[in-house]
Amino acid sequence: MTKCYPTVSEDYQNAVQKAKRKLRGLIAEKNCAPLMLRLAWHSAGTFDVKTKTGGPFGTMKQPAELAHAANNGLDIAVRLLEPIKEQLPILSYADFYQLAGVVAVEITGGPEIPFHPGREDKPHPPPEGRLPNATEGADHLRQVFSNQMGLSDQDIVALSGGHTLGRCHKERSGFEGPWTTNPLIFDNSFFKELLTGEKAGLLQLPTDKVLLSDPVFRPLVDKYAADEDAFFADYTEAHLKLSELGFADA
Ligand code: HEM
Repeated sequence: MTKCYPTVSEDYQNAVQKAKRKLRGLIAEKNCAPLMLRLAWHSAGTFDVKTKTGGPFGTMKQPAELAHAANNGLDIAVRLLEPIKEQLPILSYADFYQLAGVVAVEITGGPEIPFHPGREDKPHPPPEGRLPNATEGADHLRQVFSNQMGLSDQDIVALSGGHTLGRCHKERSGFEGPWTTNPLIFDNSFFKELLTGEKAGLLQLPTDKVLLSDPVFRPLVDKYAADEDAFFADYTEAHLKLSELGFADA
């Protein structure tokens, strides 16, 4: 979709730059890049193309949205970010949470994702049930990413590479363990591990394994495992789209 980005003031642009610096510091101090990426993704991934509701519009800080089962643990991210946000009242939560996702990827060695400011905070959180369920299959992934969010098969595979960062926590999702041996580094190891098969100490969700069995997803897994530059290029495109769902549509 063609985008028509709003113009923001110089003060606003300065606040974005300051937020970037503060986020780099926070993430380095707390090793919380994975949680910040999950926050940005769960904020944006609720977008519904048909009703134009949900999406990256700063609603995640509301108790109603934090209480969605899929968001278990994201209250920690919201809390960690609040002291920075308090210093930057001009900035929308919508921009701030997406910026946190962009910085999380960049600071862990991933690609630099373009960031366009100007999202406005919306009052109403989305209904529960729009984020993907890790126990489902390819049809479900396409239902959520394609039918609901308006993304492509390529976006599904590239974005799944976000699991190169972080881990599952039993008390948050019922799953336990990291996907890779270096969960604080953004690289293509998620795809390499996926192809190697299950290993002690590492985890693959049912929705990750689906990428191996689906005839459209599988060639992309092979490509990203073999070529990190190709993964970074497609990830950048997909993450940018995700972070701008429902924003600046011409
Ligand atoms: C394809 C559908 C997806 C499913 C079913 C899924 C499911 C999950 C689950 C169950 C967890 C564990 C949460 C916990 O216990 O702490 C998790 C963590 C995570 N997810 Fe996903 N996810 C999906 C897509 C994505 C996408 C698109 C991204 C980002 C581009 C992403 C980024 C992350 C990150 C970074 C973590 C680690 C959080 C941490 O270490 O605290 N996921 N995901």
